[in-house]
Amino acid sequence: MPEQLNPDPTNPVPTNTVPAATTEATGITEPTEITEAGVAAAVNAALVAIAAASDSAALKSVRTSHAGEASVLAKLNGLMRTVPPTEKAAAGKLVGQGRARVTQALTAREGEILEAEAAAQLAAEEVDVTAALSRWQPGARHPLTLLQERVADVFVGMGWEVAEGPELESEWFNFDALNFDEDHPARAMQDTFFIEPTSAHLVLRTHTSPVQLRALLSRELPVYVVAPGRVYRTDELDATHTPVFHQIEGIAVDKGLTMAHLRGTLDHFVKAMFGDEAKVRLRPNYFPFTEPSAELDLWHPTFAGGPRWIEWGGCGMVNANVLRSAGIDPDVYSGFAFGVGVERALMFRNDVKDMHDMVEGDVRFSQQFGMAV
Ligand code: PHE
Repeated sequence: MPEQLNPDPTNPVPTNTVPAATTEATGITEPTEITEAGVAAAVNAALVAIAAASDSAALKSVRTSHAGEASVLAKLNGLMRTVPPTEKAAAGKLVGQGRARVTQALTAREGEILEAEAAAQLAAEEVDVTAALSRWQPGARHPLTLLQERVADVFVGMGWEVAEGPELESEWFNFDALNFDEDHPARAMQDTFFIEPTSAHLVLRTHTSPVQLRALLSRELPVYVVAPGRVYRTDELDATHTPVFHQIEGIAVDKGLTMAHLRGTLDHFVKAMFGDEAKVRLRPNYFPFTEPSAELDLWHPTFAGGPRWIEWGGCGMVNANVLRSAGIDPDVYSGFAFGVGVERALMFRNDVKDMHDMVEGDVRFSQQFGMAV
């Protein structure tokens, strides 16, 4: 048995009853006369096709094939010429009503399709207006930079100057001129990055103290200079060490400077940095370039880890040999110097527990500090 193509065999589409050529687009035979069945068949076929059209492109081709110039309905309309005058009114009404029904159905379906397509487009382009996303993320300055600038500001406020020195430093400035013995352990390979060829006697500076001498050599006395900067030691990176870190050096050389001036300067410095409750303690120590020398400890009631003394740096009166290296007469001039660690300050002041955070360059770390520390 042949496949049943008409979905409703009780109401057969009577297109086959008219023997004529079949138009390709509609599968409906070419009409030769206007009959009620012929019009009904054309209208029926058009309505089925219109209902089946699921988007505007499909509907457009349905409109062409069922209501366009080459459609059966248009051809039926064309046959009006052949209708005898007495039957013209009835035939005209038949064809006209058929065409009107199809046009109506096309308009209605077009409305439905456009509405559905607009709804689908809106759904596809939906924007969640409640999502609080910023289009661009503002960057942030690194807290180590901010902290160094803050220190510099404190000293500039006291009339000091800010100086810089090279990170690639001559061994002479880093060690010899600072009175380090030939066999001082700090020179040993495990502490210092020596630059090849070693005959050039260049190192990555292990502290900011070489700026002491550079400041003295490049300025007229008296000298009051603070020098923040990067320093290098051959430490492995862990929670409390990094091979690259920052120090802030201070040096003052003038007539009549004593340990009391050092102490007073440090007191003011820590209070300006950490608040009025901060205290300084000096403990005797040894550095080749200061004599006497002291460990610089800091106390604060609310620092991370509770109220306690924290070792922060070194200080002392500039060693007479250092003054001589700079051509300064130690019988006329005296001076004091100090050096503190910037990473350490950020750790206890801002409760940063892991140095990795300071060097990994994740902007989210810097952003927490904003533009001021
Ligand atoms: N340069 C010393 C250090 O890195 C600190 C220091 C600076 C000590 C100035 C005395 C005077 O440990």
